[in-house]
Amino acid sequence: MGDVGGLGTVLVTGGSGYIGSHTVLELVQAGYKAVVVDNLANSSEESLKRVGEITGKQDCIEFLEVDLLHFDKLENVFKEHEFIACIHFAGLKAVGESVKIPLMYYENNLTGTLNLLRLCTAYGCKNFVFSSSATVYGMADKMPVSEDTQLGSTNPYGRTKLFIEEFLRDVHTSDPEWNIVILRYFNPVGAHESGRIGEDPSGIPNNLMPFIAQVAVGRREFLSIFGDDYPTPDGTGVRDYIHVTDLAKGHVQALRKLASSKVGCTPVNLGTGKGASVLEMVKAFSKAAGKDLPYKLVERRAGDIAELYCSPDFARDFLHWEAKLTLDDMCADVWRWQSQNPEGYPRSE
Ligand code: NAD
Ligand code: WQD
Repeated sequence: MGDVGGLGTVLVTGGSGYIGSHTVLELVQAGYKAVVVDNLANSSEESLKRVGEITGKQDCIEFLEVDLLHFDKLENVFKEHEFIACIHFAGLKAVGESVKIPLMYYENNLTGTLNLLRLCTAYGCKNFVFSSSATVYGMADKMPVSEDTQLGSTNPYGRTKLFIEEFLRDVHTSDPEWNIVILRYFNPVGAHESGRIGEDPSGIPNNLMPFIAQVAVGRREFLSIFGDDYPTPDGTGVRDYIHVTDLAKGHVQALRKLASSKVGCTPVNLGTGKGASVLEMVKAFSKAAGKDLPYKLVERRAGDIAELYCSPDFARDFLHWEAKLTLDDMCADVWRWQSQNPEGYPRSE
């Protein structure tokens, strides 16, 4: 463990959200200080209070309620701090919603990122880690996907990730002092082992794991399994689920890499390299929760592909990082979080 924040201060946009809060936890445990900017559009300040409690390092976490769209307020954050790096999580992420309100997604994710990049340029914060997504592989049909697999997009959310990746490549071309790691997450699930922080979607969950967890805790009647006629071993969709704690540690490794070498603008897949089907997930979660989970087989969901999993080889060679936690760990940790916090974070603290 490092000194109290002794490794320097990292700007973490979107740091009170699901992946951000788990990453702030790993950052402060590794010896960094985190300054979080978040507009709380999809999160609660409670997550970071709890990170402070879990780690005992509240003094290494500063939370600022700032919207990336408010350039002047964001500039004040840069005026008041000196950052060694920025990790950029902030963005809207619901695929279906992005199809309904594309302009809001483009405005929030793209303009927010442009504001941030302008300020990082002006204030010399050129070590940058970006939250990209496996969605940038579009309808990839050859598994596993590696970083040089052809990119594509199927919805406005995915296009925001593709466009931002392009922004970053251009920014680096214009000024080689930029040092950028683009992390392409596969399917992040799980929660911190304490059960104190976890994923807390508002409304009906879009993703499989939080939906399963809400069925297990009795908030939803049954899971709908979207299609059982895919060309996969049991007919249900296959994905590369990765524990959020492993993912968070990947960010710490990315910062270490940026501190020790010039990497240009490099994309890295963060996944386990192993696929699991929807039925396998249901089985694993039932085991963790000690109960059967009711489900119904329904039509395929529009836009889904049969299977998606990554080659984790480059992450291992380049970042010296690999996912360690198993599907059983992911399910046990989500169950601990969901059963101890059935309604998620308290809404009015
Ligand atoms: P999240 O919604 O929990 O976190 C995103 C945070 O960004 C939220 O706290 C939200 O309030 C904040 N935010 C949004 N717009 C903002 C703005 N204009 N200004 C300031 N803050 C703003 O989502 P997450 O799952 O933690 O995802 C983090 C990042 O990782 C996102 O960029 C997401 O697209 C990406 N990602 C997520 C997944 C996933 O399945 N969870 C997969 C791949 C990539
Ligand atoms: C997983 C599997 C579904 C819900 C999404 C985004 C992607 C990235 C990660 C941000 C699929 C099936 C799901 C349900 C089901 N996010 N399923 N019943 O679609 O792989 O990826 O999250 O970047 O961009 O698209 O994840 O969790 O929605 O689905 O049967 O109620 O579970 O069909 O096979 P997905 P998911």
